[in-house]
Amino acid sequence: MPETRKIIIDTDPGQDDAVAILLALASPELDVLGITAVAGNVPLALTEKNARKICELAGKPGIKVFAGAVRPMVRHLVTAENVHGKTGLDGPELPEPEMPLQKQHAVDFIVETLMREEPGSVTLCPLGPLTNIALAMVREPRIVPRIREIVLMGGGFFEGGNVTPAAEFNIYVDPHAADVVLKSGIPVVMVPLDVTHKALTSAKRVAAFRELGTRPGLAIAEMLEFFERFDESKYGTDGGPLHDPCVIAYLLQPELFSGRYINVTVETASELTMGMTVADWWGVTGREKNVTYLRDVDHEQFFRLLVERIGRL
Ligand code: RIB
Ligand code: CA
Repeated sequence: MPETRKIIIDTDPGQDDAVAILLALASPELDVLGITAVAGNVPLALTEKNARKICELAGKPGIKVFAGAVRPMVRHLVTAENVHGKTGLDGPELPEPEMPLQKQHAVDFIVETLMREEPGSVTLCPLGPLTNIALAMVREPRIVPRIREIVLMGGGFFEGGNVTPAAEFNIYVDPHAADVVLKSGIPVVMVPLDVTHKALTSAKRVAAFRELGTRPGLAIAEMLEFFERFDESKYGTDGGPLHDPCVIAYLLQPELFSGRYINVTVETASELTMGMTVADWWGVTGREKNVTYLRDVDHEQFFRLLVERIGRL
C-alpha cells in the first residue's frame, strides 16, 4: 500500500462539495486530517453543519470538522441558495448531525497542522472561497513553504464565469483571498470551469449512484438531481457540471486531467471583471508562472472512479 497522502479539505457544502468529501473519505490513498468549513454557497452556520452531515453519511463521525471564516476578507458575502437550495444541501433528507463541531477555529487548525506535520507533507484542497486559506497564510506566513501543494476548484477563462460573465463563484466571493493564494509562491493546481464543465452529470450517471443501493449512493443521486437543474436550465445541457469532485479525482488519478503551467492573475479592482482569473495560456504577458491550469478531463473514467469509490462506503 503506497503511503497515504495527507490532505485538508476546505469546503462550503454544497452538493458538489458533498460528493467530493464522500469521494475523499472513500479513498484509502487519502488521509483526511480535517475538514474546514467556509462561508460560500450558504452561510457558515450551514456549511459547517452540512460538512458534519456528510461525514456521518459516509459513516465517518470521527472526522474533525472546523468552522472558519464567516465572510470574505474584504467584500460582503455572496451566497448561492439559488443553486444549492436554502440548506445548501437540498435534495436528500439528511438527519441533523450528532458528531461535534471542533471548538478550534479552522484557520488555527490549518496553521497548527501545517506547523506540526512534516514540511511538504500536507496538501490543501479548497472547494469554496479561499478565505480560510488566505487568512491562515496571513496569520502565520511560516506555513507557506510547509504546504506540499494546493489543489483548488475555482476560476475559469475559456469558459467565462458562472456568477458573472467574467468570474467563477469561489473566486468571485473572495477575490482578495484568491490573490493572496495565487501570489504565495505555493504550487497551485487550479481546477477551473474549463475542466468542470466537461464533467457533466446525466440521467444515466445519476442512476449509477442510485443503483449502488446504499444510503450514500441514494443521497448523491438525490443531491445531483436537485443540483443539476440550475445548470441544465442555464446552459441547456442534460446534466450539470460536477465541479468539486474533480479536485479529489485529480489527487487520485491525475492522469485523467491535462493542463499547462502558466500565470494566472485575479482581478481585485474592477467591478466589471471582479474575481476574473486571467489565465495567460499563450504566455504573452511574461508574468511569472504560478499555476498548473487544468483544461481537460477524461469524464467517462472520472465518473467510473466516482461510482466505484462511493460504492465502497
Ligand atoms: O463555481 C463552482 C464552485 O462554487 C463549486 O465549488 C460550488 O460548490 C461553489 O462553491
Ligand atoms: Ca464548493
